Parts: sequence; structure tokens; C-alpha cells
Amino acid sequence: MAEEVFVSPRKAGRIAVFLSGRGSNFRAIHDAILEGKICASVALVFSNVETAPGLLAARERGLETLYLNPKLFPDREGYDKEAVRQVRKRDVDLVCLAGYMRILTPYFCREFKHHCLNIHPALLPSFPGLHVQQKAIDWGVKFSGATVHFVSEDVDMGPIVIQAAVPVLQDDTEHSLADRILVEEHRIYPEAVRLFFDGRLEVRGRRVFIREA
Ligand code: GAR
Repeated sequence: MAEEVFVSPRKAGRIAVFLSGRGSNFRAIHDAILEGKICASVALVFSNVETAPGLLAARERGLETLYLNPKLFPDREGYDKEAVRQVRKRDVDLVCLAGYMRILTPYFCREFKHHCLNIHPALLPSFPGLHVQQKAIDWGVKFSGATVHFVSEDVDMGPIVIQAAVPVLQDDTEHSLADRILVEEHRIYPEAVRLFFDGRLEVRGRRVFIREA
């Protein structure tokens, strides 16, 4: 069977950001848009947490926000179906997971195949899951970092777009390492979104190629 090839669209796209907390990656992406570095707009900021500071930040920036209460749905698939419906209604081209702490169903992942990015605070495929800065310290790795990847049905395992490495220092705590990684997250996530809407991301199987401008 011929290998499936996806090339990201070159257009002024519409983004939905999904977050559950602080929202610093959301702000980094939105700042890059406001600075004219990314040709896109934020059509929706979505959360499963009503009090997420990132939602408040989005409202303060005049963006449309939506909180969906997971308790109102019988199961995760029902929740994700409504989330997909809300995103589709707004004609969104790319979903950016930015600290969205809810595992997506296969349904959601299929609906947005090649149209959903995630940021993870480790060098995947090492340390998927949660508390990964502490896991990196405990394992004794000398470098950790951040990964932007396309979302696939296997959690934290989709095709990698950009990674950035940071050293793990001898006196690092979970927090000091997380802070150092976050600086890189704020650099590479907007960059990945920019490349997406510049039509420069080409996905061939597991590999993502960055096309010449
Ligand atoms: C970021 O460090 C992000 O990489 C991580 O949550 C934090 C969200 O921060 N995401 C994950 O761990 C997903 N597995 P933010 O709300 O300030 O962007």
C-alpha cells in the first residue's frame, strides 16, 4: 500500500486551543499571532475545567471561550463528540492541545487526524504521561526537553514536529526543570503552528518533514 502523505494547508487558518490550566502555551501562540508571526486566528479556547486560568486569560483577550462540564456527559466519547461538534461549528483548521489534561478518545483523534497538535514536556518517546519532569530526574537522564507532535490514537506517540532539548542539572527539582523546559515550549509551539499554516509540514507515516519555504 502506498504511504499516506499529508501536507499542511497554506492559509490564514482558524485555531481552537484546548487547555485545562494556566494557559502559558496558549498565550505564547496567541502572542505570536498578534505579533504577525503566525498567519492564523484563535477561533475558540476550550476547556474541561471551568476555573482554568487560561480560560480567563482568553476572555481578557477578547477571544471566544467554551467550558464543557464532563459530568454532563455519560461517557468520554459523548463528551468528545460534543467537543468535535463545537470545533467544527467554528470552521477550525487546527486544534492545539496546550496543557489539556484529558485523554482524547480515538473518535476525536480520528476526526482531527493531522489537524491536532500537542505539546509535551519531555523528549518523546521517553517519558510519556504525567509528572514527566520528575520521571526524567529520577531516571538520571542528562537531557530532557519539549516535543510538539501530531496527535494520534496512542497517547503522546504521534508524529514529532519539533523537539528542543534542555540539560538536566544535578540540583534540578521538578519545578526548576519544568521552568527551563517551558521556555523552550513557548518557542517551539508557536513555531510548529507557524510551519503548519505556512503549508510546510509534510507527514509521511511517522516522520514529519519541514518543506523549504
Ligand atoms: C505544559 O508544560 C505542557 O507541556 C504540559 O502541561 C503544561 C501546560 O502549561 N502538557 C502535558 O503534560 C500534556 N501531557 P500551560 O497551561 O502553562 O501551557
